[in-house]
Amino acid sequence: MNSLNELQIPNVQCSQYLIDGEITNWIGPSAEVFSNIYLSKNKEGKLGPTLIGNVPDLDEDVSIKALDAAVNAFSRGQGKWPTMKVKERISCMETFVKIMATKREEIVELLMWEIGKNTTDAAKEFDRTVEYIYDTIEAYKKLDRKSAKFDTEGNIRAHIRRGPLGVILCLGPYNYPLNETFSLLIPALIMGNTAIFKPAKLGVLLITPLLEAFKEAFPPGVVNILFGRGRKIASPIMKTGKIDVLALIGHSSSAVALQDLHPNKNRLRLILGLEAKNPGIVLKDADMGLTIKECVSGTLSYNGQRCTALKVLFVHEDVVDDFITKFSKAVDKLKFGLPWEDGSFLTPLPEVQKPEYIKALIQDATSKGAKVMNKKGGEMSANYCYPAILYPVNEDMDLFHEEQFGPVIPIVSFKDIDQPLNAMASSDYGQQVSLFGQDVKQLGPLIDTLANLVCRVNLNSSCQRGPDVYPFTGRKNSAVGTLSVFDALRSFSIRTFVASKDNEYNNKILQDLLNSNHSNFINTEYLL
Ligand code: G3H
Repeated sequence: MNSLNELQIPNVQCSQYLIDGEITNWIGPSAEVFSNIYLSKNKEGKLGPTLIGNVPDLDEDVSIKALDAAVNAFSRGQGKWPTMKVKERISCMETFVKIMATKREEIVELLMWEIGKNTTDAAKEFDRTVEYIYDTIEAYKKLDRKSAKFDTEGNIRAHIRRGPLGVILCLGPYNYPLNETFSLLIPALIMGNTAIFKPAKLGVLLITPLLEAFKEAFPPGVVNILFGRGRKIASPIMKTGKIDVLALIGHSSSAVALQDLHPNKNRLRLILGLEAKNPGIVLKDADMGLTIKECVSGTLSYNGQRCTALKVLFVHEDVVDDFITKFSKAVDKLKFGLPWEDGSFLTPLPEVQKPEYIKALIQDATSKGAKVMNKKGGEMSANYCYPAILYPVNEDMDLFHEEQFGPVIPIVSFKDIDQPLNAMASSDYGQQVSLFGQDVKQLGPLIDTLANLVCRVNLNSSCQRGPDVYPFTGRKNSAVGTLSVFDALRSFSIRTFVASKDNEYNNKILQDLLNSNHSNFINTEYLL
């Protein structure tokens, strides 16, 4: 797809949802889905968002039906899914991922239209998700192999496994509507939990090609997929108190509001990936070429709409002028274009109100003494704002504190390393940092401190979540729980075991249980 003439505007008419293994037609209001890519004209003849489909706008009754289906499928731990043999659950997951792989083209295209992700990143998101599912299957086999044994301590024999937690409400973010949502849903399911899943506010249509795959692969009620507004759907579900885990990647305001609705606070487990304000710290001996390259991708990949994006740059005063000159040049060279156009790095922003928000941040900073340092910085169109580099930024400006989640980059110069360290210590967030420099005498103690302020110190490298086998978490308001292929399996399960006094009577019963295959929990089957 390269020219306007060749463009196929999607028209996804979805009137269905998945509950209890049934794909049901919704006879009720639907919600139009718009792309913030401007190709069509409105009544006044102005270009505006493009209509690309619609989805059901489901209501509270349906959401409670979905909850009931998930609760029944778990069935107080007696359900088919939570008691199933591990290898059978794995086989369901394999069926799912095989069908999912056939939907690549459709989903990648919808990623571009719905959230404006460029072709390369959209394809990467899809492929990374498929790989994540296969890696999860392998990690689960490994985990299960470790549990295929009995322990004896004192005179107590124990068979210890990880068991599911129950019913999960799963909500993902718009910037990775497939990958991040599935990085919650997939481990939750494979560990034997049942789930209700509502796609993010943007990036909704791309889930519709997968309804059949979920229906086909999993027993009824294990995965229930709803479309509609969070307030109408998620809130009534939380109020019942029947949710065991809130798995959410998004904004802490939603996470807090949903937790507050749950009547049994200690029952509710949380797996949350929230805001961050990852700093880049540029020391005076940093390799400038490498630093600029990493800071460009760190601040502006997907227009800065990544929780791991570099959102403030602290640059040593001796090199700040050189840094700004070179960084501005590099940023002004970035190509803006439609997601499918060759070489588009910057793309339209999917949130309608984002350009205005970015503009307000720029105005606030400039009214307090900062300047836009790059020539193209702040150039606005209705659905975009060209990345603006702001300098000098200080604590009085909103941009210093707020997670901008978009194309605007604050630069703060420092003389004393305590300045960025103090800012990080007093920040509400603590996900990652990028540290640029080479003198080990300075780097060594700094790394020791930074590792205690955040959860990943990226040395001469931009911040990122991947590879997905590495732990992804954060301190303070940035996260609850840890997600990696391996950690997610732990996060969505709990250690549970069968213990018995070590005597002839019990040992015979255990042996009979092992021989009989009556229990899927007590077995020492070894998965290859
Ligand atoms: O939005 C936050 C994502 O987890 C970032 O992932 O670092 O791979 O872009 P990424």
